[in-house]
Parts: sequence; structure tokens; C-alpha cells
Amino acid sequence: MTAVRTPAKHFAPLAIGAPQPYRELPVRIERMIHFVPPHNEKIRAKLKDTIKQVDVVLGNLEDAIAVGEKEAARKGFVSMAREFDFGSTGLWTRINCLNSPWMLDDVTEIVKEAGNKVDVIMLPKVEGPWDIHYLDQLLAQLEARHNVERPILIHAILETAEGVKNVEDIAAASPRMHGMSLGPADLAASRGMKTTRVGGGHPDYGVLADAKADGSPRAHYQQDLWHYTVGKMVDACLSYGLKPFYGPFGDFSDSAACEAQFRNAFLQGCLGAWSLHPSQIEIAKRVFSPDPKEVLFAKRILEAMPDGTGAVMIDGKMQDDATWKQAKVIVDLAKLVASKDPGLAAAYGF
Ligand code: GLV
Ligand code: MG
Repeated sequence: MTAVRTPAKHFAPLAIGAPQPYRELPVRIERMIHFVPPHNEKIRAKLKDTIKQVDVVLGNLEDAIAVGEKEAARKGFVSMAREFDFGSTGLWTRINCLNSPWMLDDVTEIVKEAGNKVDVIMLPKVEGPWDIHYLDQLLAQLEARHNVERPILIHAILETAEGVKNVEDIAAASPRMHGMSLGPADLAASRGMKTTRVGGGHPDYGVLADAKADGSPRAHYQQDLWHYTVGKMVDACLSYGLKPFYGPFGDFSDSAACEAQFRNAFLQGCLGAWSLHPSQIEIAKRVFSPDPKEVLFAKRILEAMPDGTGAVMIDGKMQDDATWKQAKVIVDLAKLVASKDPGLAAAYGF
């Protein structure tokens, strides 16, 4: 077993003067993490409206930002963080990875200039708990130096074979952990998968129905390439009280496939996904807000079993303590969504 701190030390600040780590994550609705290139003036000009439309705005400093634009992106992020009031919308940044020439300046500049505005730092290419420990300690030192009042959380991208292998230790590494996103593009490369896509399925990954005696064509059922990793990530996250997310879907022209991929992740336990294009904001909102029909049914279960025990029949379906708990997951999420979305609040009957 790897050495771990005592429970008391686990929750002690890692630097004198740094804020106390959270014992429970702040409760926030995070259906879509909306990526913006922070140095792009046109996108920054629309940010006031974007903040109202999304649950999280993320200033991206890593992949998709060209080498020559890394510093402009970092500066752009600092100025957008200072300029706008984000209200209940989260403000995140995806910094460059630990072995890059930019990561140290990303963290030091951002905490110095905007440490009290940033909710979460997304750390790419996390391979093991050592990566989290390093950023955890560095953040504590910088928070102390710059009088940051609440801990900046860490969100890991699960996008290397080694990261997937170590996913439980990554989840357990620090009380600063917010959650994880699947990074299917880097993960595909790291694993040696034979694809050229950013998330989603592949037409050749599937099962072939048995041959029939009459020789008629055999059906081929496409399968979800990401099922295994999402399942592994969800178990690691939920067992440590963290939040799991599906990551990017790169084919902006195929909104149906994007919706299907997001929905698989939602049904498996994920709480949101990345929106890389404005069209994906609505898809994520639709998918990661529970279906009103499901919410109304879940409310009937809770009402039929006020103390959550026993067994009742509703519409011919057996309900017991375990379905009561499933219903509570859906109703709790619906309440959170309703607090931000009056239209859905009415559809849910709150
Ligand atoms: C995201 O960063 C990915 O690699 O899919
Ligand atoms: Mg990546």
C-alpha cells in the first residue's frame, strides 16, 4: 500500500496561510464545461452572454492553442477572469501539462493575478497521484502568498494509459480533487488505439450477429468504445466523492452522435461534458438535465416511501430501498438544475 497521510493531515492546508481544504465539494451544476480560447478577442467580446448560457466557462491554455499563442492565451485568461462577474457560473482554466515549458508560469501567473476568481484548474495528462501532489503543494504555496480565500480545485483529465491504470490513486490523492474528465483523443493515442477521432464511436468497433442458415446479411451492432474507461472513471470518482465527466466530442457536424455519446456517459454516472462549439451547449444542457418524465416518476417513488424503506408497487414496477436511492439521485440533480433553470423547474413540478 502506498503511504498516506493521517486523516487529520489529509485535510490540513499544505502551506501556512493557505485556505483550509474543502471536506465536501461545493454543490454546483456543471452540465457543460464550455471551452474558450482566451486570447480570441471576438470570443471574449461575447463572453458576457456566454456566461449566462453555460454552467462553466473554461479558458483553454493547452492543446489547440498554438505554441506562439501560449502567452497571449494566459494573459487573455487573466484579463477575462478580472473583467467579468461570473456569478454562479464556474470559472475554470485548462493549464498546460506538467512537463511543458508553460505550466509553471500558467499556475504562478493565474493564482497571482486571478486566484480569487478561479474555481478549478484542469490538469491534463495526469499519470498518477504524484502529479496531483505536486500541483496541490504548489497551489497551496501560491494561495498563501497571494491571500487566496478558498482552495482552487483540481480537475484531472484521464487521457493516458498510465492515468487510467492509476485512476483510483489519482482520485484519492488530495481533498483538492474536484473530479475527472475522459480525454478520448489523447487517450486513444496513448493506448495505441487505431482511430483518428476526438471521442465518439467507430463504425468498425462492434459485434456481428450470428450467421443465419439462410445466409441472409448479418447485423453489425456498433459498440461504445469508451464504455470501459467511463465505467472505471465513474467508480473511482464516486467512491471518493468526486465528479466524473465525459470530455470532448470533436465532430461538430454530427450533433446526434454527440448527444448519444453524452447520454451514455450521463446514464453511466457522469455529470457533464465539454462543449467545444456553441452548438454543443444545448446538447449538454438537454442530456445532463434529467428527463422530466424520469423526475416525475422518481418523485412518485420518494413520495410512496417517505422514510426510504420497504417495498411498494408503482405502475407494476417493484420499488424498494435501492430504487428509492436511485430516485433520490435524480430528484437531487433535478433540484439543482431547477435552481438555475425556471423552465425545467416547472417541468419537474418544483
Ligand atoms: C482531451 O484533451 C482529449 O485529449 O481528448
Ligand atoms: Mg487531451
